[in-house]
Amino acid sequence: MACLFRRAHVVTCAGPPDDPLGVIADGALLTDGDRVAWVGPGADAHAAAGALGLVVDDQVDLGGRLLTPGLVDCHTHAVFAGDRAHEFALRAAGASYQAIAAAGGGIVATTGPTRAASIAQLTALTLARLERARGFGTTTIEVKTGYDLTVAGELRLLDVIAAAAAATPIAVVPTLLCHLVPAERRADRDAYVRALCEALVPQARGRATSVDVYCDDGAFTLAETRAILVAARAAGLAVRAHVGQFADLGGAELVAELGGLSIDHVEQIGPAGIAAAAAAGTVAVMLPGACVQLRLPVPPVAALRAAGVPMAIATDLNPGSSLTENLPLQMWLATTHYAMTVAEAWLGVTRHAARALGLADRGVLAPGARADLCAWDAAHPAEVPYHYGAQRPSLVAIAGQRVELAPVA
Ligand code: NIG
Ligand code: FE
Repeated sequence: MACLFRRAHVVTCAGPPDDPLGVIADGALLTDGDRVAWVGPGADAHAAAGALGLVVDDQVDLGGRLLTPGLVDCHTHAVFAGDRAHEFALRAAGASYQAIAAAGGGIVATTGPTRAASIAQLTALTLARLERARGFGTTTIEVKTGYDLTVAGELRLLDVIAAAAAATPIAVVPTLLCHLVPAERRADRDAYVRALCEALVPQARGRATSVDVYCDDGAFTLAETRAILVAARAAGLAVRAHVGQFADLGGAELVAELGGLSIDHVEQIGPAGIAAAAAAGTVAVMLPGACVQLRLPVPPVAALRAAGVPMAIATDLNPGSSLTENLPLQMWLATTHYAMTVAEAWLGVTRHAARALGLADRGVLAPGARADLCAWDAAHPAEVPYHYGAQRPSLVAIAGQRVELAPVA
């Protein structure tokens, strides 16, 4: 089944370094089943279909609208129960995230309701979040565990992610997150880390594609992170880490040394970490919603750019620091608060986000890529972050299938 999307302003996100968005004005795109078959000037579309032997049985006239890759949200904590609105209110009144965590709030406050919820309840909560994400143009989403903190419970959260993935058209990328040492295991941290390395991580093989560790003040130390990520590598899983949200513990250098996919947050990262990430090709994932909400300093974007570190942008969807499924809103924060360019913002939620997940077949509109597409009521790439909070795609296709959009929430 071939479909022609015509009269489009195609933002391929597949251009060369001096024109990375690779915009084709008055362009067209052909899909063949779940793949992009051809992208080019509209005037050439029918000849291209003929040359490829495609019978076009469906056409969409986009009337000059932007056509972009489907968005990739490469960092979410979408599986949790309960809420922490009271913490939001405390922070609004001046309390810090770390002070709230030290007083028994924070991540551990979400483990109680998450452990108490059934698989069916957690799956329904997760699916509702994925539906909202789809309404904002997300077609691939990474989902982490991390709110149970026991071996059996974290494996149960991987089951929830699998159940949600089976029930949504969005492509779901499951990650095992080692988030924190729970209070009841703090007397013997080493034993807990051993359990993660020897029991949890090996059992995540085949159920998660990567292992993430929160390497920061109040979470895992650099030595603990190394042990967990080495175990992940031994289990054949990709590695990534939350690094430098509050303190630079050297996590960026560690992830680069291990050939990891991404370093996420990076408000605190020094020249050595930046150089290591650049040399290893590790993606820096920007989470500006969490940064703004916790009133943290901005990551060193200019230094990351100058070093050639690819930058992705994600929602960090979680009940504590960033309760949102809205990826275009993160593009606005990235362009206004992080001083990233509009082109960087688009690459951040498409090509570079896909790279942070180790996925080579999406995040770009090019022959052979998955046919994940968004059309926007916009004529210029800047218009999507510009109309912040309100921009939603007018059409979404996932693996070549057009999907109904969730109602505006
Ligand atoms: O990415 N930094 C660690 N984890 C989350 C916050 C989780 C929470 O507060 O529940 C983050 O910001
Ligand atoms: Fe996170």
